[in-house]
Amino acid sequence: MKIKTLLSAVAAAGVFGFAAVAAHAQDTIKIGLIAPFSGPFADYGQMMEDGIKTYMAEHGDTVAGKKIEIIKKDTTGPVPDIAKRLAQELVVRDKVDFLAGFGLTPEALAVAPIATQAKKPMIIMNAATSIITAKSPYIARVSMTLPQVSAPMGIWAAKNGIKKVVTLVADYGPGIDAEAAFKKTFVANGGQVLEAVRAPLRNPDFAPYIQRIKDAKPDAVFIFVPAGEQAISFMKGYRERGLAAAGIKVIATGDLTDDHVLPAMGDATLGVITTFHYSAAHDSPENKAFLKQFAKTNPKDGRPNFMAVAAFDGMDAIYRVVKKLDGKIDPDKAMAVLKGMKIDSPRGPLMIDPQTRDAVQNVYVRKVEKVNGEPYNVEFDTFADVKDPAK
Ligand code: PHB
Repeated sequence: MKIKTLLSAVAAAGVFGFAAVAAHAQDTIKIGLIAPFSGPFADYGQMMEDGIKTYMAEHGDTVAGKKIEIIKKDTTGPVPDIAKRLAQELVVRDKVDFLAGFGLTPEALAVAPIATQAKKPMIIMNAATSIITAKSPYIARVSMTLPQVSAPMGIWAAKNGIKKVVTLVADYGPGIDAEAAFKKTFVANGGQVLEAVRAPLRNPDFAPYIQRIKDAKPDAVFIFVPAGEQAISFMKGYRERGLAAAGIKVIATGDLTDDHVLPAMGDATLGVITTFHYSAAHDSPENKAFLKQFAKTNPKDGRPNFMAVAAFDGMDAIYRVVKKLDGKIDPDKAMAVLKGMKIDSPRGPLMIDPQTRDAVQNVYVRKVEKVNGEPYNVEFDTFADVKDPAK
């Protein structure tokens, strides 16, 4: 069968060398996965890879007769130059059909021009600054945007007795987006932002920021820090510096209480209220099936988080494109298939907005509570079908 394909390709192309390469390339759909797999953000790459493996364990590694191949590349963190070089290698040397991954905004922004020049569909599985999808017509995002998850918190907080807030965000794209979106809806609903504090993205010591928050005496602090180590570090400071004892509540986007690290964060997180698009406690058949398959596929990797779910859904999106195009990936046709795509995600219903190529999805209000002795983000309210309000 393979020989026959090769021979007919030789006949069609008339040049043996070219035909051999073409026939081989046609057997495989290559996906370049760009994310941090080492350094302080290594969990991001791990969660994405685990989500991808979970999808492939369930759906197989062949679509429309093509084998799906994942080529992993480690950015080591928010380093634009490395992300760019890796994307160039994937396009030029590996001849990938899709670019995927992107844990942090600087990685995604650095690669967007390459997606445009090389015409490679680029599936964002986390990076969440609003502007990213506007940087290339070949980008589709299956994660979220910070304005999308922060604006609902401004409304919820103002309507639930919180009048004065200090905001604390990581000082880069997603943090600045979160600060602006929260403020807009919070103030529109009668709230007051006493102070807007920004901390550096890399290795902040939260102690001085926490002291500033304490001195301002707000009802609550609204937080965005990137998921993982920084969230752990903030919650440690929150506990040790007596913010809870001073009666200052924590409200945040769900990055702070990321399902993957929540069990390691201790009881200081109990009662923290967040708005987000995915909780491991989401009660649906899709999520139950996802959690089961995830545990089976990645038995040592703990609880999946929103990045694992976005990667799982991103693979679903790619598989559907490959199926629809019968294994022949034309970049413009691929983007047309992605626009308006609807997915029954473990998070709830997901649609890729045909105009912005961003995720339209429910944003849930959740509270950290113990379920069978383990902390979970328990959903108790829903903002349905939320679009990115920054666009
Ligand atoms: C981002 O850099 O876009 C980013 C990183 C971590 C998050 C959310 C957004 O939890």
